[in-house]
Amino acid sequence: MRMYEIIEKKRDKYELSKEEIEFFVNGYSKGEIPDYQMSALLMAIYLNGMSDEELKNLTFAMANSAKTLDLSSIKVPGKYIVDKHSTGGVGDKITLIVLPIIAALGVGVCKMSGRGLGFTGGTADKLESIVGYNVNIPINDAIRQVQDIGVCLISQSPEIAVADKKIYALRDTTATVESIDLIASSIMSKKLASGVDKILLDVTVGSGAFMKTLEDARKLSKTMVKIGKLAGVETKAIVTSMSEPLGRNVGNALEIKEVISFLLSDETTLQSEEIRDLKEIVYEIAAQMIKMSGICDDMEKNRKDITKAIVSRAAYDKFIELVKAQGGHIYNVYMDWIGLNLDMPVLDDKVKYLKEIHAQSDGYVVSIDSKKIGEALVALGGGRNRKEDRIDYSVGFEFSKKVGDRVNEGDTILTVLYNDKEKFESAFEYIENAIYIDNIEEEVAKTLKSKPHILDIIDENSL
Ligand code: URA
Repeated sequence: MRMYEIIEKKRDKYELSKEEIEFFVNGYSKGEIPDYQMSALLMAIYLNGMSDEELKNLTFAMANSAKTLDLSSIKVPGKYIVDKHSTGGVGDKITLIVLPIIAALGVGVCKMSGRGLGFTGGTADKLESIVGYNVNIPINDAIRQVQDIGVCLISQSPEIAVADKKIYALRDTTATVESIDLIASSIMSKKLASGVDKILLDVTVGSGAFMKTLEDARKLSKTMVKIGKLAGVETKAIVTSMSEPLGRNVGNALEIKEVISFLLSDETTLQSEEIRDLKEIVYEIAAQMIKMSGICDDMEKNRKDITKAIVSRAAYDKFIELVKAQGGHIYNVYMDWIGLNLDMPVLDDKVKYLKEIHAQSDGYVVSIDSKKIGEALVALGGGRNRKEDRIDYSVGFEFSKKVGDRVNEGDTILTVLYNDKEKFESAFEYIENAIYIDNIEEEVAKTLKSKPHILDIIDENSL
């Protein structure tokens, strides 16, 4: 078999066989196929797409290119181990809230999370803003931890889906990342190699997401659900809005604080407008994962149980148990608003400067461009341009206003937390262009404010 012929075949829109796909995946992983040939093939795939059979074979070849995990020894109340994956966004702290909630309700989760690159943040980086938290524990220890406390949250293991890692790095430099077929097989190869029984995908859409349109997000969702079906692993995709940053905080330590405050909500704060977007997505994803785990099919009951897990503080205690299990430092503090002592993670959150950004005119907040806010965070040092970049965990943004909110000239829209004045200047250029205030009708503002965040749910029945 020759790589030249495989490239030629794909260029001319013929279907590649299983053997040909395994040949280039394994050959490239072992360094036997040069970058220039792999790049040409990736561009041919980008331009001509893949059939269902090719997609399945590519996903399996990448999943089997290294170690695959066996989670069958884990015994938890949930019959099935369910994984969650988000296609990424700005202010996306859903995993950090959902996992302790569902683990407190008996769903076993062994989750590998990515690091941030470019304008999207990564859950592994957010966790590292907790002093001492180790995202790199050996996989066997992680599995043992799921058995002991029901949950682990580690970074993507370098031993899993090695071919995807290499191919992704090449796609990143050859303008072939934005192919729905390549994205779908890349994500699903890692999920299948991680040995889970079921997969819940959060497919984000909007300026701060990979998928810019609802149509593309649906296409990506259907492609991944189809791959899951072909692999015999039930997969469901929830399409969620990422047009403005999620929640009120963007930045690593700040987002952990927002997670803590969500998990410490009582019945009243759970109803507040402040957390409406987060709550809508957290409840849908958590309820679906509880259902997929085999614990309970009744979504309404699952929602009630989620509230109970939060209000009783079982979810928060699970979060602290997770942080402690992975080496995170904890201090004990008297919380006068709850009237008791609580364990709290120690955060790398000391900043030198705070700067409030004010509205320049009266009106309503019409849009907050999440991509620009993500870029502003990178400019402040809170994200990476290159894989090697070090992150400043303490910097970020706290939003006082969200889309649809009324503002008067001079009102604070957001507060910037930063350590370096020059970096603030570069971040400010993005922030200035990210927020659009206009004098729209009150009714229009209300519609903007009440826009749903769950845009679609795609499962095998939607194919
Ligand atoms: N995330 C992945 O894991 N792979 C892609 O191709 C894109 C996003």
